[in-house]
Amino acid sequence: MKDILKAPFVEEMCKTTANMYRLGWDERNGGNISYLLDEKEVGEYLDLNLVKRVLPLGFDATTLAGKIFIVTGSGKYFKNVLDDPEDNLGIVRISADGQNAQLLWGYSGGGKCTSEFPAHLMSHMARLQVDPENRVVMHTHPTHTLAMNYVHELDDKKFSHTLWEMCTECIVIFPEGVGVLPWMLCGTNSIGKATADKMKDYRIVIWAMHGIYGAGKTMDETFGLIETVEKAAQIYMLTAHLPRINTIKDEEMVELAEFFGVNYRKDFLNL
Ligand code: 13P
Ligand code: ZN
Repeated sequence: MKDILKAPFVEEMCKTTANMYRLGWDERNGGNISYLLDEKEVGEYLDLNLVKRVLPLGFDATTLAGKIFIVTGSGKYFKNVLDDPEDNLGIVRISADGQNAQLLWGYSGGGKCTSEFPAHLMSHMARLQVDPENRVVMHTHPTHTLAMNYVHELDDKKFSHTLWEMCTECIVIFPEGVGVLPWMLCGTNSIGKATADKMKDYRIVIWAMHGIYGAGKTMDETFGLIETVEKAAQIYMLTAHLPRINTIKDEEMVELAEFFGVNYRKDFLNL
């Protein structure tokens, strides 16, 4: 067996959580990541027949039965993942009946999967329907995106349009826009279902006054999506209280989307 601590997927989790902490997005235990792994690859590092513990899911995840994820632990600090991946991360397989997560590695101090695992798994289900190559779901509390939630209307079209106006690249990076949920109680199956519903149309879902969910094929793609939204929100927060003299016009957004050949939400523009 190879050394699991040197597995590329463990290293990616460590580097990404450290980077997100560095950006100030993940205070205390804020944020969580789940990453769908290749069974054959995991088998090079772990005995897949050895289940250490069984963690009940509290909802039905039958469509993900047999799938293996590396997941941040509940109550764990992103700040600490790099120093102790085995305590802060877990590798779990969804049981055949879709009711449990079978712990194969990690959570060495007795921990369990993030409290947002319903939203993660339901989002994986939704994204895999749209994009069979989706692997990553990432939740974080980016500062400016949260700030913007307090001063901007919480509406998919209006929020997406404002973000697109803030940086030239936005309509190219997230041409489908962003989904926005109202404030909801976190850690529940209900917010999981609402998130997954938005994930049918968007790779970015904003949880008002809480944070953001991103989904993508790779860690870089997912992080890059959230990073771009956060940058746009930062520019909004730096300028919202000042007289607006210039803007990116809707006609220019069309020009961008057509030049880069992206399938954008035309109904989100006011042409
Ligand atoms: P966990 O510590 O359970 O992952 O929760 C953090 C969080 O961000 C809740 O929304
Ligand atoms: Zn959160």
